[in-house]
Amino acid sequence: MRLVMDLSAFFESRVCIVSGKGGVGKTTLSAVLAVMAASSGQQVLLVDVEGKSGLSNAFGANPLEYEAVTLSQGVFARNITAEQALLEFFQDHNLNWVSKRLQSMNLVDVIATAAPGIKDILVLGKVKQIERRGTYDLIIVDAPAAGHTLTFLNSAAGLIDAVRVGPVRTQARDVQEMLTDPSRTQVILTTLPEETPVNETVETAEALVDLKIKVGAVLVNGWYSPCPAATVDEIRAAAVTAGTVMPDEEAQALADASSFVNMRHRLQQTQLARLEDMLALPILQLPFLFTADLGRPGIDTLTKALETAITDFETEAPAVTLPSSDGKTA
Ligand SMILES: Nc1ncnc2c1ncn2[C@@H]1O[C@H](COP(=O)(O)OP(=O)(O)OP(=O)(O)O)[C@@H](O)[C@H]1O
Ligand SMILES: [Mg+2]
Repeated sequence: MRLVMDLSAFFESRVCIVSGKGGVGKTTLSAVLAVMAASSGQQVLLVDVEGKSGLSNAFGANPLEYEAVTLSQGVFARNITAEQALLEFFQDHNLNWVSKRLQSMNLVDVIATAAPGIKDILVLGKVKQIERRGTYDLIIVDAPAAGHTLTFLNSAAGLIDAVRVGPVRTQARDVQEMLTDPSRTQVILTTLPEETPVNETVETAEALVDLKIKVGAVLVNGWYSPCPAATVDEIRAAAVTAGTVMPDEEAQALADASSFVNMRHRLQQTQLARLEDMLALPILQLPFLFTADLGRPGIDTLTKALETAITDFETEAPAVTLPSSDGKTA
């Protein structure tokens, strides 16, 4: 199956769900997307659904809570857990006393996990409520790792099948409408240019198309740019030209590092080519930053890299083939 999308609509959907295999950079790239959108004047809400993403660290802020906090100009963030969304649901329906009783009896967790999909629908229901209120131009959801993302995004369809009447069904139906409307929701897939994450990305993209959920782009994180290949002698000569002397061991270490980076780059290119061959989606590379702690400067560097990648894609990409109505590439 081949998929094609138009990058000019990068932030057209008001909800942007960032998904990918564990550890590929979902949280980092959620923050990057938020900073990028905020720099063009948008009010952006970042949503952490697992409560342990460390999303606020890069902004020097405290761990996130249920109430939204400001992380930087135009970027707000909050945690949304199923338990808190459930309590708020009762409060919104003037059932404060139910909410208090549930809390005092520790029953919230029992209810929130009563049926498969309930927890996910509570979280997505809250996202839908925020989207409908229109307080933010863009809501970026730092989704659970890819395997769980599909269960997460399929929870509404599953509950619509399982529950015939009542508020759970209404909630599930509203969430499903939001997820399957490309003007409201898109998924941005994140991956590393390595075999297993690439395979998983392709599987996830195809599963999302089957769920009728728009995939906007794939962000390939951790990209190594090639280094100029140099021998020890060339490095030492360059040092002399620069007016210094480099000991043999240091020149050797630099030569080894450059051949390692080039070897990784070649492997990454093979994986990128596989990805491009299997998915006709905008695929944008983001550099690996050689720093122990990315912090806000790292987020800003990646934001600039993403802006450049988008501009390059728009100017260099061949005319985009649009999918025909049956979902296949024309
Ligand atoms: N482009 C990059 N260059 C260097 N380090 C990076 C880059 N992107 C992410 N990292 C680092 O990689 C680690 C994992 O990133 P991150 O937490 O964003 O991944 P994740 O997909 O959200 O992980 P999890 O599945 O655990 O939620 C972090 O330490 C982050 O600082
Ligand atoms: Mg994360």
